[in-house]
Order: sequence, then structure tokens, then C-alpha cells
Amino acid sequence: MSLPIAVLLSGGGSNLQSIIDKIEEGVLDAEIKLVISNRARAFGLERARNHGIPTQVLSHKDYRSREDFDRAMVEAMHDHGVSAPEGAVIMAGFMRMVTHELLGAFPNRVLNIHPALLPSFPGVHGQADAADYGVKISGCTVHFVDEEMDHGPVIIQAAVPCNAGDDGESLGPRILKLEHRVFPQAIQWLSRERLEIQDRHVHLKFAGVPLAETPRVSVEPPCNALVWPPLEDGF
Ligand code: GAR
Repeated sequence: MSLPIAVLLSGGGSNLQSIIDKIEEGVLDAEIKLVISNRARAFGLERARNHGIPTQVLSHKDYRSREDFDRAMVEAMHDHGVSAPEGAVIMAGFMRMVTHELLGAFPNRVLNIHPALLPSFPGVHGQADAADYGVKISGCTVHFVDEEMDHGPVIIQAAVPCNAGDDGESLGPRILKLEHRVFPQAIQWLSRERLEIQDRHVHLKFAGVPLAETPRVSVEPPCNALVWPPLEDGF
């Protein structure tokens, strides 16, 4: 069965676009039932409309508490046919923390992407914070969401080199290219019920690539990336 999802975003929506593209290519078995933005001018809304996907703007500023805001989002998702246990919530550049109101409605069904190798550099400036710190390697992380910021169990990570002289502006696009590959992959694993959480550890069922065969992935701008668990064909 194809996975019914709601995508939450706040901005440009390039991750949304990568999910749409993988669905249209037939490698990601999911259906985007609704895109919710907390910002009316988010370009991601236009991307959704271009593909006939229903959208809704819910501004957090119209609600008295985070919990009230989350309840409104859950109601909208339910109205559009996204509910647990089948459905899932995909946070694709959604710059708000969510509460037990949303997480309780979708237990272990909320995924987020973060542009750094968690637990390093959580927050809204992951790329710039890592570059400014002077790390040699950064990347991105897809994880299950819990009530702490950028904290839940890790599903997949991708690592790219970070050079002296890199800043958030130069490192960001390198990481984003990988985000567009690992996020649809993680959603596909969820769709196939292949993700099992034990404590903080996410086990990918039916995966069998030995560590010695770890594939390097070439991305533009030209660099080699390390992705683990490895991407499957089409991602
Ligand atoms: C992405 O880089 C995503 O990882 C990041 O926002 C960007 C959204 O881009 N998310 C966070 O920083 C969450 N802490 P997009 O709107 O083009 O998908």
C-alpha cells in the first residue's frame, strides 16, 4: 500500500520537490495528501500546487500555544486522510518544534531532515554552525522526531567534506543535494515498514551490505559523500 503522508514546511520546499519527483518516478511509494506551511509565502506551497497537491497555511501566530497549533495541524491532516497508524508526517524544512499533541497522534510516524550530522549542530543554522566551527566533515540526518529539538532516533546520515573557507552558503548546497536523496529513501523504508526502533537505535530490516562495501556517492558540486545505510537503486 502506498504511504499516505502530510508534508510540513516553512520555506522553499526543495525537499518537498525531491519527494514529489521520486513519487512521480515510481521509486517512492507514497502519496502526499496535504502540504501544510506555517508561512503563507513559502515557495513550497507553489511547488505543491504545481502538482495538484492540496495545501493549507496554518500560521503558528494564530494559536495561543504550540499545543493548540499542533492540534490544528493534526485536524487538517486527519481531514485529508493522513492518520496513524498508516499515515506519516514529513517535516521538510519545517522550522517549528512539535509537541506531544502531534507526536501522540502519530507515534513513531514523524520524520525530520536536518542539515548537519546530529547530534552536532542542531537548530536552524546547522550548515553555517558546522562551517563556522571548522569541522572537516558535515552532512545531513534523517531522524524520527521526538519532543526535543533535532534529537530522535537516527534513520540515515550522509557525510560530505567541509573545506577551510567553506561557510554556510558554500556548504549548504552540497548538503542539500544529499538531503534530496536520503529523505525520499528514508520515507520509502518507512513506507515498506522496514524501520524498527529499539531504544534509540533504528534497525533497517532486510538490509545486508557489508561495511567493507560501503558505497561512496558522487554529488554535485563535485565531491564524494558517504551515505549509511546505503541508498538503494533509484535514490
Ligand atoms: C533544509 O536544508 C532542511 O534540512 C533544513 O531546512 C532546509 C529546507 O530547505 N531544516 C532544518 O534546518 C531543520 N532544523 P527546503 O525548504 O528547500 O527543503
